[in-house]
Amino acid sequence: MENKSGFSSRLGFVLAAAGSAVGLGNLWRFPYLAAKYGGGIFLLVYLILAVTFGFTLMLTEITIGRKTGKSCVDAFGMLNKKFSFIGYLAALVPIIIFPYYCVIGGWVTKFLTLFATGGGKSAAADEYFGGFIGQTGQPLVFLGIFMAVTTVIILAGVQNGIEKVSKVLMPMLAVMTVGIAVYALTIPGAMDGFVYYLKPNFSMFSIKTVVAAMGQLFYSMSLAMGIMITYGSYMSKENDLEGSVRQIEIFDTCIAFMAGIMIIPPIFAFSNGDTSMLQQGPTLMFVILPKVFASMPGGQIVGAVFFVLVFLAALTSSVSLMETVLSVIQDKFHIKRTIGCILILIISFLIAIPSALGYGELSSVQILGRSFLDFFDFISNNILMPIVGLFTCIFVGYIVKPACIEEEINISGKFKSKKLYTVMMKYVAPVFMVIILVSSLVGYV
Ligand code: PHE
Repeated sequence: MENKSGFSSRLGFVLAAAGSAVGLGNLWRFPYLAAKYGGGIFLLVYLILAVTFGFTLMLTEITIGRKTGKSCVDAFGMLNKKFSFIGYLAALVPIIIFPYYCVIGGWVTKFLTLFATGGGKSAAADEYFGGFIGQTGQPLVFLGIFMAVTTVIILAGVQNGIEKVSKVLMPMLAVMTVGIAVYALTIPGAMDGFVYYLKPNFSMFSIKTVVAAMGQLFYSMSLAMGIMITYGSYMSKENDLEGSVRQIEIFDTCIAFMAGIMIIPPIFAFSNGDTSMLQQGPTLMFVILPKVFASMPGGQIVGAVFFVLVFLAALTSSVSLMETVLSVIQDKFHIKRTIGCILILIISFLIAIPSALGYGELSSVQILGRSFLDFFDFISNNILMPIVGLFTCIFVGYIVKPACIEEEINISGKFKSKKLYTVMMKYVAPVFMVIILVSSLVGYV
């Protein structure tokens, strides 16, 4: 991400941004949240938020990036000196996410090796995953491997390579996800789960649903952490901003939607009516998918290929997280890239240890009723990101004014959603963000 050469085409830009957006958030996080927060009602709330908030915020970030040509730490300051703190706050988010993202990346690595070595069937047993994350050595080793691979890629500076690879991978992942989702629906008993996933049950609606959906939106679309600002800074002035944002959003949302079908209906199929598994949380994907593969003809091979793709999708996202952290450190402390990398690796590994051991050795330690991993996830997605989002709205709505954004968008085409955008930025989004923050803080969630 360091080279300022820019993206060669609109498609290149859209796919690269989608490469950052599509990752564990879609495949791992979205399904367990949808399962937990009422299925259809969560999906509905998420979709409404995606076309309103998601669209507004992503458009804002990419536009700020393209306008200033800077990364997040400098972009806000360039538009108004007093507000450079928003950039710093945003930069804090990947610092928190990166370590625990790698813990999940480690889990994926473990499953990948398991399926690739023909042991996938054993993962279909109920206790398998719990047994794995309950250990001390294995989760740490796989965390280490995943972090090390991420670091090697950053050190080699082959972001371009990874970018190119993800152009091939993303469509492959999409095809696989659709295939597995369609298969999942054919498992006897899956239909009840499909209905649960699609049909909104309004009695399950609460502020928690909205808070969780909003946190997911930020996470999945890589918003409120400066990533989209950086990507926007590489975008050419001729590319249609509004249209590109819509495409990134649609891609990201479709993958999440399909991942939900891949995981939620099988819960109903494999649980004999006991749906307590819906509440499983962060471990859900790793418990359900092996069962789907075990029941599928050729499932071991499909499983192996699938986990390779998830691994690579996670890797492209973790690379973008680490690169962001690195660029902030380099800008501020003027240290060499290699030294910065090693420092991040060591510090992030240390921070990740409690998250990796939170389901075994440290399972008795809970922060605000959450495991370490859940806690870090909560702090970044439900507290820090809404704060950054709120400041961004105030900044654009009242300080630099929506006209500043409009001007940039108009360079490459007429701003079609101008009215919606202005109302969202000035009134709806800030009020909403405050409600989310307050309800997160008073422990509503
Ligand atoms: N959006 C990514 C996902 O869905 C996560 C991510 C967040 C990636 C921030 C990069 C930066 O997995």
